[in-house]
Amino acid sequence: MVSNSKIIWNPYSPDYFRNPYPHLNACRESNPIQFGLHDSWIFFKYNHVSEIIRSQDFLVSDLSGYLKTKEPYIFGNNGCPYLAKGTQKWLLYLNGDEHKQARAIVGKAFKEFNLKVAISEATEQVIKKFESETEFDGIDFCSEFLFFIMKKFYNIHDDYTMEEIKIYSNRIARAQDMFVTKQVYQEINKWFLWGNDMFNHQGNDAFNYKQLIEDFAKNMQVEFSEENVLSILSLSLMAAFETSKDNLVIAINEFLTQPNLMEEALSFDENQISLLTEEIFRFCAPVHYTIRINKNKLQFNDIEIPAQSRIYVCLASANRDADEFQNPDSFISLRNPNEHLTFGAGSHLCLGASIARQEIRICIKPMIEFLKNYLIDSSKELKYGKQILLRTIESLPIKKKS
Ligand code: HEM
Repeated sequence: MVSNSKIIWNPYSPDYFRNPYPHLNACRESNPIQFGLHDSWIFFKYNHVSEIIRSQDFLVSDLSGYLKTKEPYIFGNNGCPYLAKGTQKWLLYLNGDEHKQARAIVGKAFKEFNLKVAISEATEQVIKKFESETEFDGIDFCSEFLFFIMKKFYNIHDDYTMEEIKIYSNRIARAQDMFVTKQVYQEINKWFLWGNDMFNHQGNDAFNYKQLIEDFAKNMQVEFSEENVLSILSLSLMAAFETSKDNLVIAINEFLTQPNLMEEALSFDENQISLLTEEIFRFCAPVHYTIRINKNKLQFNDIEIPAQSRIYVCLASANRDADEFQNPDSFISLRNPNEHLTFGAGSHLCLGASIARQEIRICIKPMIEFLKNYLIDSSKELKYGKQILLRTIESLPIKKKS
C-alpha cells in the first residue's frame, strides 16, 4: 500500500493552480500510482499513461450516466435538468459501437471545413482588432482569435458575442471537472440550454456543421435525435474552443515571460515551426487528466487495482517525465523527438489534433511578431483558473512596451 512518506496527490496543494508541475513531478517521482481522492486511482508516469490510453482493456467513464444520478440532488423538484442530455453524445465518454459511429460522423464533418483560410483570416482580424490597444487581456486576444474561426465553423449568428461563447465553452467544459458544486452544476445546466438556442439560431454562412452531422448520420443510418445532434455540437464547440484557447494563452504567457523564445521563433522555417508547435503542445498540455475504467483486475508490482476502478491518467505529468523527455521542464523549441500525449492516444485520440496543429502553425509567427511589442503587465493580477481537468489562465494582463 501507499506509505505516508510518499507525496499524496492534492490539486488544492499550495500554488497548484498557478503552477501544478512541482506537485505533479513530486507525485510522479515518489508515488507514481496512487489511490486517493474520489476513491479513484491516479497514474503519473509516461509509460503507464501511454499504455493505459492505448489499451483496449479500458473503457471511458459514463459522464452522462453519472450526471443523471446527480440531477435529483442538483435540481430537486426545480429547474429543467439538462446535464445528462447535454453530455449524452460527448464522444470522450462513449464506448463501443456508439462511440465508433459518432466518431466517424464527427470526423467526416470536420474534414469538410476550409480551415486554412479561416485560420489565416482569424489571425489577421485579431491582430487588426488589438493593434491600437495599449493594454488588453491575453485571454480576450486568444478567445477572439478562436471566436473568428468558431463563428464560421458553427455558423454562429451575429447576435452572439465572443464573451458569451467564451463563457459557454468554459462552463460546459466544467461539467466534466472534479469537485463541482451544486450551484456550478446549475449554472452549467443554464449554459447548455443557452447553447441549444444558439445552435438553433444560426447565421447565413454557407458552411453548416449542424446540417452535415444530420446528413452524415442519415447516410450512415445512425439514428440521431435533435438532442443527440445538439449534444454533438456542444461537445465539438467546447473541445475546439476551450482547449485551443487554454493552450494558446499558456503559450503566450511563456513567450512573453521568455522573450528570447520569441526572437528564436521568428527566425524559424516551416519545419522548425512544426517542431515548435509540438513543443508548445507538450509544454502547455491544457487537458491535464483523462479518465478510464479498467475492465480487468490490474497488478503493478505490489499494487493491485480491482476491476471496474476509476482511473485518472495525468497527461500533463506524463509530458514532463524525465524518462521520456530530456530537461522536461524546459521549453526547448526544436525538441525532437517529441512524442507528447497532449492529444491523448488510442481510440479516443483527439479528433481535432490536426485542426489544433494547423491553428498554431499558421497563427504563431504573426502573433509573436505582434506580441513582441508587448509585455506582461505585472501591476495587474495574472489569474489562474481553479479547475482541475483542464488547466487555464483566466486573466493575462498585457501592456505595450513604453
Ligand atoms: C490544443 C488543443 C487540443 C487539445 C490539447 C485536445 C486534447 C484532447 C484530448 C486529450 C482528447 C482525448 C481525451 C481522452 O482520451 O479521454 C481529445 C479528444 C477530442 N478532441 Fe481534442 N484537443 C484539442 C483541440 C481540439 C479541437 C480543435 C477539436 C475540434 C475541432 C477537438 C475535438 C476533440 C474531440 C471531438 C474529441 C473526442 C474524441 C473521441 O473521444 O473519440 N479537439 N482532445
